Amino acid sequence: MTVRPILIAPDPRLKAVSEPVETVDAEIRKLAEDMADSMYAAEGIGLAAIQIGVPKRVIVMDLDQKDGKKNWRAFINPKITWASEDVATFEEGCLSVPDIWDDVERPARIRCEYLDLDGKTIQIEADGMLATCLQHEMDHLQGVLFIDHFSRLKRSMALKKLEKAKKLAG
Ligand code: NI
Repeated sequence: MTVRPILIAPDPRLKAVSEPVETVDAEIRKLAEDMADSMYAAEGIGLAAIQIGVPKRVIVMDLDQKDGKKNWRAFINPKITWASEDVATFEEGCLSVPDIWDDVERPARIRCEYLDLDGKTIQIEADGMLATCLQHEMDHLQGVLFIDHFSRLKRSMALKKLEKAKKLAG
């Protein structure tokens, strides 16, 4: 078990486009485990590999942490194969964007194809929180943060707040 530090915006590494995983091997499984440990340590519900500085298309998520049970899943090379026209709005936050939460509108339902930790192709249809979180985490793989969905003014205010917090933290 290794908890790795989470990158905080603004950080140019968070803008990198992550590379596809070629083989789901022991190294990738170890990466996913470290990501899950880092996510739980930071009290998050989802994490993309780039958030611990690894530009690979790997996401971990646990939306159901009731009673302290750990039930995380990994999504490797996830792709959206269909998105609904209807949208849903959720208040989002991000471990790399501390102290900022705001509404983001995204397709309400998606179909997603990914590899699990055994390298098996899985297809799911997601709605609600799962659809939103998958899209939020998949954005990270493209170097996109949820604040990039804000209006221009709101985004620049958020960036200023992040820069200031980073300066204060040294
Ligand atoms: Ni995030």
